[in-house]
Amino acid sequence: MEQKNLDQIIRETVARYMNRSLIVAGNWKMNMTVREGMEFLEKLGPVDGKVMIFPPYTTLAVLAGEFRKRGIIYGPQNFHYKESGAYTGEISLPMIKELGCDCLLVGHSERRSYYNETDEEIQKKIQAALKEGFSVMLCIGENLEERKSGQWKNVLRKQLEKDLEGLSTDRIPYIQIAYEPIWAIGTGVSASTEEIIETHRYLKAVLSELTGSDIPLLYGGSVNEKNAADIGSCPGVDGFLIGGASLKPEKFRKIIEVSKRE
Ligand code: PGA
Repeated sequence: MEQKNLDQIIRETVARYMNRSLIVAGNWKMNMTVREGMEFLEKLGPVDGKVMIFPPYTTLAVLAGEFRKRGIIYGPQNFHYKESGAYTGEISLPMIKELGCDCLLVGHSERRSYYNETDEEIQKKIQAALKEGFSVMLCIGENLEERKSGQWKNVLRKQLEKDLEGLSTDRIPYIQIAYEPIWAIGTGVSASTEEIIETHRYLKAVLSELTGSDIPLLYGGSVNEKNAADIGSCPGVDGFLIGGASLKPEKFRKIIEVSKRE
């Protein structure tokens, strides 16, 4: 009897996953003027499924209504955890809220490496954003040396432990993780499907241990219209965070198409 129930649970879980469209998120980084962003949206045409775009601030502010109209979830690539004050060059959560943003990107490896963003700061940002009712997409990833030396498991676990410290149970549904191996970002060569399967299996287990939940886990790092179907069919992959290929509407559209499950 118990076994039957278990089989049933497994079947239902598999069915639920098979039917769940993948999340397709574009990180525009420091690309796309307002004009270019508008042209992109016009060429992209109507979208369905869970599509997100993280544009630069100026494009975000001007095109917020356009994203909303098209059902695209949008948000900034970075923000400060303080509400206001003398922090030249920074953007606060109330400013972001005014634009109707939903999901905020945090901890991208380029922010960690070029702007020395620490896990302590990332943790504060996550706490502040969740308190304000936003959802966040936290990026984690190891560098090539850490991958080759086999330290990657420790590195990724530490990032998750530190960045998610103090996460309250009621905020867990507002968290998404993007696993982005640094060595695969912008290189044109993604991690192999074997590496993705192994890493996502490990990260799902760590996340379940830390939160007791099945947190959505995206893969990022040279995802394009050619490899998206293969990567998207790896167990444990709930979507993509895409840099380069998210700048070309025809490529982004193809990735959205292969991400549909229903
Ligand atoms: P890429 O970037 O798709 O150009 O490798 C991914 C990212 O940095 O989010």
